[in-house]
Parts: sequence; C-alpha cells; structure tokens
Amino acid sequence: MAYLNDSYLKLKAGYLFPEIGRRVKAFCDAHPDAAKRLIRCGIGDVTEPLPPAVIAALHRAVDEMGARATFKGYGPEQGYEWLRAAIAQNDFRARGLEVADDEIFVSDGSKCDCGNILDIFGGQNRIAVTDPVYPVYVDTNVMDGHTGPADAAGAYAGLVYLPGNAANGFVPEPPMEAVDLIYLCSPNNPTGAVMTRAQLTRWVRYALEYRAIILFDAAYEAYITDPALPHSIFEIPGARDCAIEFRSFSKNGGFTGMRCAFTVVPKTLLAQTESGERHPLHPLWSRRMTTKFNGVSYPVQRAAEALYSATGRTQVRALIEHYLGNAQVLLAGVGAAGWRVFGGVSAPYIWVQTPAGLTSWEAFDKILREANVVITPGSGFGRAGEGWFRISCFNSRANAEEVAQRLRAMKW
Ligand code: MLT
Repeated sequence: MAYLNDSYLKLKAGYLFPEIGRRVKAFCDAHPDAAKRLIRCGIGDVTEPLPPAVIAALHRAVDEMGARATFKGYGPEQGYEWLRAAIAQNDFRARGLEVADDEIFVSDGSKCDCGNILDIFGGQNRIAVTDPVYPVYVDTNVMDGHTGPADAAGAYAGLVYLPGNAANGFVPEPPMEAVDLIYLCSPNNPTGAVMTRAQLTRWVRYALEYRAIILFDAAYEAYITDPALPHSIFEIPGARDCAIEFRSFSKNGGFTGMRCAFTVVPKTLLAQTESGERHPLHPLWSRRMTTKFNGVSYPVQRAAEALYSATGRTQVRALIEHYLGNAQVLLAGVGAAGWRVFGGVSAPYIWVQTPAGLTSWEAFDKILREANVVITPGSGFGRAGEGWFRISCFNSRANAEEVAQRLRAMKW
C-alpha cells in the first residue's frame, strides 16, 4: 500500500480561485440571463492581447523551430543566456543594481517559483507571512509539511501571521520575535499596498539581524507609479545577503497564458546547515532547476526577450497604463459609493471594505447576485482579509466603466 502526503489533507477547502469559479458557475447555471451580463473582476488575469513586438518574436522563433539549421531542442535549464542578460541588464543594472546574468533563473511562472523555492530550505524554518496573503505562500508550506493543522478561521499552526489592516496601511512591520523565512509581496496582492523604501529597509535590517531570508514577490513592480517607491528589494543596501526576488512577465507583458518569469538568487546569499555551517543557496537552486526543470520553451523566451526591445517596452508601458486607467475608473466608482478603499494607485488591485458590516463572502454573493460582477472575497486571503474584498483591474475599459457604474448603483 502506498502512502500519501498527509500534509495535503490539512489544506482547507479548494484553492481560492477554483472555489470562486465553482460558485460563479452555479450562479450562472441558475440565472442564464444574469450570466450574459456577468463581468469578472475576480482572478487577476490579463485581458488585453499580447504586444505586437511579442507576436513578431513568436513568429520568428516558430519559423526557426521549423528549419533544421535553426531548430532548438532542450535549452539551458536556467534560461538562455541572452534572456538572462537582457533581464539582468534592463531590470537591474540599468537601475544601478548589482545583479549578474547568472543570478537570474528563468522559469514558467512566479507561482511555481514561490512554491518550488521551498525545495532548497529545511523543514525546521519558522515561516512568517503577511495576512491577508497570496494563498500560494501558505498552501505550499502546508503541502511541504511545514505547518500544523488549520484552525476554524483557516490559520495554520506553526506559521507566524503578520496582520495587515487599515491602521498599518496593510504593510505589517517586522515581528518582535525571530523568524527564518519571510514572504513579502510589493505591490501587494491582494491589497494593492506598496512598501516604501523605509518600510522595506526595516525588513532588510530585521532579516540581516536574525539571519532570516526574505522571499520578495515583485510580480507587480511594473505598476509602481510613484518614483520614490522601490521596484526591487535589491535597491535596499544589504538585501543581496538576505533576499530572493521573484519577478514575472504575466502582469507586465500579459504572459499569463504564455508562462515566463524569473527568480533572482544572489550568489552572496547564505543559509545554514543543521550543524551550523553557512552555505550559498545559489548552487542549490541551480541544482534544483537542472534536476527538476527543462527550461521554458524557446519561442516563449524569445517572446520575453522582445519585451525589452525599444518597441516592446513602449507596448508594455501602454498595457500597464491601460490597466492603471481601469484602476482609476474603479477607484472613482467605489469612492463615489463612499466605500473605504486601498490600492489601485501603484497596483492593479483595489482593496475595499465590505459595506454594511457584511462578511467577505456575503459581499461576494450580493455583488454577484445584484451587480452580476465577480470580485474576490478578502477572507480567501486570510483571517485579516475578512470584511474586505478585492477588485481586479485587469479588464477592458468598457467593462471597468460598467463595473464602476453597477457598484455605485448598489443598495446596501
Ligand atoms: C490573483 O488573482 O491573485 C492572481 O491571478 C494570482 C496569480 O497571479 O497567480
């Protein structure tokens, strides 16, 4: 008889977005007319077509794959050198940040990277997450057996939850106790809050003091509009000794269906063995990638490279402006409704307090039923998300305007 991984049995319900999908499907089956006017602002999935520079690069790469002389089989597991160089140069060195080409590991998505990174960490780490939180950080730790069971509110024993709230602007400060691994996401999913340089500096100092490692998710950095806000944790002195950064092409180049992202693991980053010796993590992650991954497909890597061309950059900027424009429309809509709201300025998510003291799921049901709009209930992101909901700004402008108008017209 084979044994299963018992830790999976500790996971609460389904992953958030399939659960929302299930509820929306049940509603649409029961109300076919309402289903016709349904607008989805739930999962943060891009809606606009790929930039033309990407399409051209894809066509060229496909033609190469069709000719013997230019055909490509397996590529390097860590990504082609030309893409790693384009990333390190454009996203880091051009901004004065020290990141070498071979510190970039190209992958098929930040969600996978955030989960897979646990392969190179020991099970004895004390793990801190902000609350509300992107569920992947929590669930992957549960799957790997790093937690105890969940309580009635869905909080897992053994994890250190750092509550975000209106008072701290949904940016928790470092804890008073020692933790070893910390997940930070800025601009934040789900709250849209962005960490200031001072806030991130406090975290880096904390990590250096406790020899902790920050897993910094910067998947939404392209949405930062305020030049004073940090795009990368490596802008903070000392971060090369205490941080790994995750970046994605999903939300800037519109690659959610293409799958391409990367992780930055500095060669200076160390962690300790059970016996207390300090070792670099870079060779471990490289070993992990070469063993468990065969790289992102050649056409997709060429497509990612095209995002850094002059035309590619202009086209990416237009995409970001489009989604940030939606955020403005939606912010104005919920603002006019008199709701308390965060995010949406340097992030594609708007974080709204549920009116009339409803729970997050009650608000979800009411908005689905009366406005035929799908949002994401805040409680799905953790206990501290209860009483809030998230509106995704990934949509057409017409839909964003329609959603703003429908939400404004609701009676609570
Ligand atoms: C979300 O809606 O939170 C995002 O789609 C999550 C993701 O990028 O995986």
